[in-house]
Amino acid sequence: MLFSSTFGAGLFAVGVAAHGAVTSYKIAGKDYPGYQGFSPANSPSVIQWQWPDYNPTLSCSAAKLRCNGGTSAKLNASANPGDSVTAIWQQWTHSQGPIIVWMYKCPGAFSSCDGSGSGWFKIDEAGFHGDGVKVFLDTETPSGWDIAKLVGGNKGWTSTIPQGLAPGNYLIRHELIALHQANNPQFYAECAQIQVGGSGTASPDASYKAAIPGYCNDSDANIKVPINNHAIAQTYTVPGPPVFKGTGGKRARDFSA
Ligand SMILES: *[C@@H]1O[C@H](CO)[C@@H](O)[C@H](O)[C@H]1NC(C)=O
Ligand SMILES: *[C@@H]1O[C@H](CO)[C@@H](O)[C@H](O)[C@H]1NC(C)=O
Repeated sequence: MLFSSTFGAGLFAVGVAAHGAVTSYKIAGKDYPGYQGFSPANSPSVIQWQWPDYNPTLSCSAAKLRCNGGTSAKLNASANPGDSVTAIWQQWTHSQGPIIVWMYKCPGAFSSCDGSGSGWFKIDEAGFHGDGVKVFLDTETPSGWDIAKLVGGNKGWTSTIPQGLAPGNYLIRHELIALHQANNPQFYAECAQIQVGGSGTASPDASYKAAIPGYCNDSDANIKVPINNHAIAQTYTVPGPPVFKGTGGKRARDFSA
């Protein structure tokens, strides 16, 4: 029995090899296993919200956009403001689209924290930096998108918990929006639980916050992207509010290049 169920799961995993999800984390120097899709219901407790499958979410308004259909996890990681958080994708294959890292302060215990309301704020983002002449939005190699650095498997993306962030129970949400299929975005997002310590007092005001779902609409120019059309402007604005840097720096929109 054990053999056949393992074998069946393996076959299914091969069938969806083009998709992906966050499968582990390194937070403040410590490794944390994540949830493995298709693992049995009695898989070990982890800090990550369990997600049902590797399939993308296909709409800005889908409930699954928040945390890939996951619900509260049993464990949490510990970290302080300024610590690094690396999310690792066991498999990833798409070279176009933004990476967005969000946090959300739970009003109380993790067990009753559902990520609802306009409490999500970005702590990091990466978009497109091609030249629009030789490196178009849809160029595979070299890609002008940082997301291409995740291609190949077991690759990570590292962000910093904002300096001075007020302590508390936070969700962290890693989102990849795959834009390789013209006008058909695919959202991949997973959430995990971090107890932030320290004695900071910084918290983002409403201009940094959004609801998920709610931060985008399917018709937005940076969501529904005709990626292979070289006649459109070959630039990209990452969706959502500006990145919150805590006391560590100005908001992204205050900088000019
Ligand atoms: C976070 O995990 C620690 C154990 O690592 C536990 O003592 C603590 O109660 C947890 N915090 C919450 C809010 O669940
Ligand atoms: C999405 O569309 C609704 C309805 O038109 C609008 O109220 C909302 O502001 C839009 N959201 C974004 C992020 O543009």
